Amino acid sequence: MIRDEQFYPNRYTVGAQHPEQQIAAVALPATVQRAAPAIPVTVRHAGPEDYMALHRIFADPQVMYWTSAMPFTPLARLRRQLTDPSEGHYGLVACIGEAVVGTLACIVLPIPRARHTRHLSLLVVAPAWQRRGVGAALMQAVIDLADNWLNLARLELMVFSDNGRAINLYRAFEFVTEGTHRRYAFRAGQYADMDTMARIREV
Ligand SMILES: CC(C)(COP(=O)(O)OP(=O)(O)OC[C@H]1O[C@@H](n2cnc3c(N)ncnc32)[C@H](O)[C@@H]1OP(=O)(O)O)[C@@H](O)C(=O)NCCC(=O)NCCS
Repeated sequence: MIRDEQFYPNRYTVGAQHPEQQIAAVALPATVQRAAPAIPVTVRHAGPEDYMALHRIFADPQVMYWTSAMPFTPLARLRRQLTDPSEGHYGLVACIGEAVVGTLACIVLPIPRARHTRHLSLLVVAPAWQRRGVGAALMQAVIDLADNWLNLARLELMVFSDNGRAINLYRAFEFVTEGTHRRYAFRAGQYADMDTMARIREV
C-alpha cells in the first residue's frame, strides 16, 4: 500500500541514511556538499508541539543577535503561530533524532502579482549544533519545496550585513546580494545595516 507521505514527503534526511531519491531532488553546490553532516538531519513541518524547543533556540543570545526575534517574546505567541499558521506559510524544523535543533520559515507575500515569490525568514540553528550541516539541510528542503512543488521563480530574504556565516550559506545556495538597507534595524543598542538577497530560478 502506498501511503500519502510517499507522494507528499514532508520529511527529508540529509546524511548517510538519506534515501537516494530525496537527495537527488536538489543538486547541491559543492560548497554545501562539504558541509553534509556525519549525523542524519531530518527536516519536517513545524507543529505546535515544537514551541518550547523553538522558543529556547530563539531566546539564546548568540542566536537572537543575528535575527529579528525580540527578547521577552511570550511563549504563548509562538505557540499560537505554530498552531494556526497563515495560508501558504511553511514552517520547517530540523531534528537530530527527536530533538528540534533548527528552523526556517517560508512566507507567502500578500501581493497577488508576487505569487511566484516567497520570503525566507528566521533561519536559526541551536549553537551546540551549528557548523554540522543543519542550516544547509533546512535550505535544501526549502529550495526543493520552492523548485519542485511550488514552482517559484524567486526566493528572497534579509540578513544583517555583518552576518558573514549566514551570507556564506545563502551564497552556497545561489542567493546574491541585491542591496543594502542602511540602519534598517535596531540591534543591541545600535542601528545595523541589512542586506537583501535573492535566488532567481530561470524557467
Ligand atoms: C547561520 C546559521 C543558520 C548556519 O547554520 P549551520 O547549521 O551552522 O550551517 P551549516 O553547518 O549548514 O553550514 C553550511 C555552510 O554555511 C556556511 N557557514 C556556516 N557557519 C559558518 C561560519 N561559522 N563561518 C563561515 N561560514 C559558515 C559555510 O559555507 C558552510 O559550509 P562549510 O561548512 O562547507 O564551510 C547558524 O550559524 C545560526 O543559526 N546562526 C545564528 C542565527 C543566524 O545568523 N541566522 C541567520 C539569520 S538571516
